[in-house]
Amino acid sequence: MKRRQDISYFHSPLPLNTMHFVISPSAGCFKAVSWRNRNITAPRSTEISSVSTSSFLSDFQSKCATPLPVLKQVADAMESDLRSGISTVAGASLPMLPSYVDSLPSGNETGIFYALDLGGTNFRVLRVLLRGKEKRVVDTEYDVVTIPQELMLGTTEELFDFIASRLALFVEKEGDRFQIPKGNIKREIGFTFSFPVRQTSIDSGILIKWTKGFKVSGTAGRDVVACLNEAMERRKLDMCVSALVNDTVSTIAGAHYWDNDVMIAVILGTGTNACYIEDISANPKLRHLNSTSEKTIINTEWGAFSSNLPLTVFDKDMDIASINPGEQIFEKTISGMYLGEIVRRVLLCMAETTELFGDSIPEKLTTPFSLKTPDLWTMQQDNSDELTVVESILEESLGVYNPSLHSKKVVVEVCNSIVTRGGRLAGAGIVGILQKLNEDSKGAVLKKRIVVAMDGGLYVKHPHYRIHIEDAVSELLGPEISNNVVIEHSKDGSGIGAALLAASNSKYN
Ligand code: BGC
Repeated sequence: MKRRQDISYFHSPLPLNTMHFVISPSAGCFKAVSWRNRNITAPRSTEISSVSTSSFLSDFQSKCATPLPVLKQVADAMESDLRSGISTVAGASLPMLPSYVDSLPSGNETGIFYALDLGGTNFRVLRVLLRGKEKRVVDTEYDVVTIPQELMLGTTEELFDFIASRLALFVEKEGDRFQIPKGNIKREIGFTFSFPVRQTSIDSGILIKWTKGFKVSGTAGRDVVACLNEAMERRKLDMCVSALVNDTVSTIAGAHYWDNDVMIAVILGTGTNACYIEDISANPKLRHLNSTSEKTIINTEWGAFSSNLPLTVFDKDMDIASINPGEQIFEKTISGMYLGEIVRRVLLCMAETTELFGDSIPEKLTTPFSLKTPDLWTMQQDNSDELTVVESILEESLGVYNPSLHSKKVVVEVCNSIVTRGGRLAGAGIVGILQKLNEDSKGAVLKKRIVVAMDGGLYVKHPHYRIHIEDAVSELLGPEISNNVVIEHSKDGSGIGAALLAASNSKYN
């Protein structure tokens, strides 16, 4: 346990000329440290009063608030960054990556296809049996495998060898229901690879950079399908990748299979991203694509967006301490990997500068990522008089014992602020895409039903977050127009979507 420090946050009763402002690496907050710490005669520590938890809280809340004017600025900036990304080949803030998917599954797909889904701490392997328009998806089987932490920071060969070995185990368990027809036919894979990839065709693409805590050496700049093929060859696994897709793209494919009004897909999980259906002819950057449909899907990589966001010192310090400083700022503000960590940083700073948890700072509270995003939701839904659930999470995750009821309420307030900001900003991002589509279509898009397919653990498991997204969309668009916008969960759209795209891009049809 560390002792609480004699510091104040934002406000101090001392005149400014007696104070020295620093950024605390541990707490991630600006602190006014007394001259005493610099060996100069200074007031006794007792003369430095801590700021009250309430004034800390209200100051923090005002800094991360998302009233309508802030949302509007974010939606407008998103629209403008989408436009500059699609019209510029390099150097724009949003990559706007062509997916090489120009026709979405029609429903006529038949056969057995595999999907491999790599994007977070788990990867999934699936096999899917498709039986055309009438019967659709007849059967699926899947395995979920946790990726050991060391592989997320290891070498390309280690990671892809691990994936190929687990894929081989899954293929070995192929039962009678999933028999590939005899002949010279390989099992085909739809490979969902949920990181920014510059595709060169539907079945190849170069990794631009890792995100979401992955830092595997030697992959950036390489074709990830070639990496998988080499690992499969080492395992003597005779399969082939027919489609390489981002998780947003497989989600839009899976959702569109059931509903033709789907035009946007958004992932809110460990990381975040969105894709949408774009007109090829309107964009010089896309003219080289040979599409009969004149449409293609653009992977926006909106996690890289950073304009006009209401960021606090806690966000900025978390970014500086991350393995990719300066990158993925929108992702770091709204997605599941980071929300718990932002709250932990706020609470640590409050514990150091106010009476929040008494005089001591528990070790766990100083440990990065000790508070997980699902803990926020669990605390937010605690309806007990004494907030006993909040207390047990504070104890288990952060090592805080016997907090007062007031402190527990403050903790819930901090969770509310960060979750509300995340959900509302995600909603503003969606409106940015809708505004672009609407203007490009001269107002036609928002006159009729349009569906935004959503997936990802944060979206699925956090009902508050979902409500904030919807609130932001309806505040920005107004009640009438927002009635046309359907934001709905695409259940397992990503897995099935990748298998469908393997089918529609099959090498044997
Ligand atoms: C990646 C995207 C991905 C998103 C959601 C982000 O970190 O850059 O490619 O779609 O996470 O998984």
